[in-house]
Amino acid sequence: MSDLEIVRTVRALRETIAGWRHAGETVGLVPTMGALHMAHMALVDEARKHADRVVASIFVNPTQFGPNEDFSSYPRREAGDIETLRDHGVDLLFAPDVKEMYPAGFETIVDVPNISQGLCGDHRPGHFAGVATIVTKLLLQALPDCAVFGEKDYQQLQVIRRLALDLDIPVDIIGLPTVREADGLAVSSRNANLSPADRAIAPKMHAALKDVADKVQAGEAVSVACAAAHEALAAAGFFPIEYLEVRTADTLMPADQAPAGAPLRALAAAWLGKTRLIDNLPIG
Ligand code: PAF
Repeated sequence: MSDLEIVRTVRALRETIAGWRHAGETVGLVPTMGALHMAHMALVDEARKHADRVVASIFVNPTQFGPNEDFSSYPRREAGDIETLRDHGVDLLFAPDVKEMYPAGFETIVDVPNISQGLCGDHRPGHFAGVATIVTKLLLQALPDCAVFGEKDYQQLQVIRRLALDLDIPVDIIGLPTVREADGLAVSSRNANLSPADRAIAPKMHAALKDVADKVQAGEAVSVACAAAHEALAAAGFFPIEYLEVRTADTLMPADQAPAGAPLRALAAAWLGKTRLIDNLPIG
């Protein structure tokens, strides 16, 4: 297993990658905000399937957090993350500081306005512009052959697919199905904040989405299936329920505006105590 190299500047990142390119090797990128867990390692394993070299980035991106969100308290565990990446055979860690990514005078924003609208976009104003901007930078800095993102953040994945297409960024964007606990709960660093009682309730979000997906697949009206699942979530104790909706799988248009036969996705976000959970499932 090769040793993990750690770089903190764009220049050093590019130098190492240029060396690999020179030797004819391909590169896969896994962008993260650290606090790594098994779902991140699934992204690393996927990148390894597609590329000779795997680069992970750790950067807690301030521009994707709203003023009342958890930027300052977001977990930062770099030493442990480095061990995890090393154990997984990652070749290079890019861990820049805020000044490296947003030097004085920085002002360009990447915005993908339609896909960023609705769902999480309505509840986290500016979030997707922050994500789109930092991911564009990471893709252009590393210029990998592929970059891997989890489907758990489904709206984020569609925003990233769109920006790569629109800006002609020659990187294959790979979406990896959500990694789940045995009871269906989507793996997330925020699950650690759930009380034992809320942890027992949390898988009901997956169950509610599965119910919607099965019923819509069987021909039930989207509005009827979503209303029943909304009721089930509320009865289980989720509050507030930010959204539980069916959208088109690629452009995330509301289901009632979907062209006939368009693939659909059921998506939800809701709070249990102080923890915000999101999840989604394909329909059909
Ligand atoms: O999904 C995440 O961890 C982040 O949104 C990402 C893609 C690394 C951008 O900061």
